[in-house]
Amino acid sequence: MAAPPIEVELDNPLAEGLERLPVRPTNLVIFGATGDLAKRKLLPAIYNLAHEGALPERFNLVGVSRGELSDAEYRDEAAEAIRAFSRTPPDAGVLDGLLTGVRYVPIAFADTAAYSQLADALAELDRAAGEPMARAFYLSTAPEFFPVIVEALGSAGLAEADGDVAVRCIIEKPFGTSLAEAQDLNRKVLAVFSEEQIFRIDHYLGKETVQNMLAFRFANGMFEPLWNRNFIENVQITAAEDLGIGSRAGYYDNAGALRDLVQNHMLQLLTLLCMEPPVTFAADDVRDEKAKVLHAIRAPDIDEVTEMSVRAQYTAGVSGGEPVVGYLAEAGVPKSSRTETYVALRLIVDNWRWAGVPFYLRTGKRLARKVTEIAVTLRPVPHLAFERDGAAGVRPNQLVLTIQPNEGVSLSLGAKVPGTRMRIRPVNMEFLYNTAFLSQSPEAYERLLLDAMRGEATLFTRNDEVEAQWRICDPILAGWAASKEPLAHYPSGAQGPSEANELLWAGHHWRAI
Ligand code: BG6
Repeated sequence: MAAPPIEVELDNPLAEGLERLPVRPTNLVIFGATGDLAKRKLLPAIYNLAHEGALPERFNLVGVSRGELSDAEYRDEAAEAIRAFSRTPPDAGVLDGLLTGVRYVPIAFADTAAYSQLADALAELDRAAGEPMARAFYLSTAPEFFPVIVEALGSAGLAEADGDVAVRCIIEKPFGTSLAEAQDLNRKVLAVFSEEQIFRIDHYLGKETVQNMLAFRFANGMFEPLWNRNFIENVQITAAEDLGIGSRAGYYDNAGALRDLVQNHMLQLLTLLCMEPPVTFAADDVRDEKAKVLHAIRAPDIDEVTEMSVRAQYTAGVSGGEPVVGYLAEAGVPKSSRTETYVALRLIVDNWRWAGVPFYLRTGKRLARKVTEIAVTLRPVPHLAFERDGAAGVRPNQLVLTIQPNEGVSLSLGAKVPGTRMRIRPVNMEFLYNTAFLSQSPEAYERLLLDAMRGEATLFTRNDEVEAQWRICDPILAGWAASKEPLAHYPSGAQGPSEANELLWAGHHWRAI
């Protein structure tokens, strides 16, 4: 009989822990307040924080963008976005309460003089509160404005903390498009804010199931002794999407799959999987260990790139039962584009624990389905005492951590098929989030916004991590640019290009997507 689900006592998991680390009265300023991310993710996340009582009593949201809107017009836009995208159906009372504290300041981001209007608006909110309020600036604009906004905030005197009233800066991805750009951006941002004030977003770190990797590894005695090259044969990390690029051609065609998903999300998953146990979960204890993993990943020489990577583009096919166009026929994509919508890599983490274990990473748009998972395959048993045909079903144990959808963990084991013969076949032992726990998981952006506002940086990437991630990706991009090999292709709705099989060492197989 399956164990009954665990009733989590709290029905508002976001408010848990607020006593230990409260959110001080805060003015949250969103740059790019009318953009897609603000509408789909940030505003709904803020609403859900309000809904769960996780926001401080004094909280104001200041939207900043180029368009000329009044406070009332922006409130209407915010309400519409929340109604369309909130995880929980909005409660009229909570929504009205939140909207009362919403302001809008029109600023063309490069117009330094206009930031005085923002300074005035924040000073007025402080006056109304009767005390200086903490400030969090969220940069959710096109990336070319990140340094511009940061510099302007500095010149307007808005970046400095007032005593122990904190000022924080939250920066969306992409953090640069190369190592040189990331270093330059770090230099510019660190000239205005200190590292403790900066929160670089990687929304994968806000996902409950990604954090569960830490619980799984460090709260269970049984896996950690096996977690090394002596027992693990190979690791596969898959981040497959069924959707195409939608209306994002302008961004995506310049980025490609490596910059869009590998440089950040996939390398972060890899660090959590590989890192040494941290002494505590304090931000720098965790980030020190993650940075060491990134440092240990062997960056390829340019002439090794074609042998350790495959890049490909989707062609027309069928997705969700409907015919769909290929990448080159998507609106806004140049017909000559060689941008990869799929990438597969074989990486080696060159340290004592992992030397010699291949880490296979793959991600792509328009694949068979959306799934993000990490599959850890253990080494085969050294000797099979079973008769030949009985042993035919013996497979190495595989542990699969599913990040999304069907969040959970499954372990494949060899079991005896009932009958008089000793025949073995693989069976699965499974834990599924939605049957084990009854409470609904918060969205990644809810957790991350809350953590940034209370100064908890564990789930944000530090400057050295971001740069180390680029140090791995830069030579791959350079190798591709120098390569004469044609781009591979795969039909929409399929498993990806067959060329990806060539990355695998003998006896290894990609899991079906
Ligand atoms: C974003 C990428 O960072 O992550 C998108 O820019 C991608 O291209 C998205 O679709 C995937 O996130 P999730 O949470 O849906 O797996």
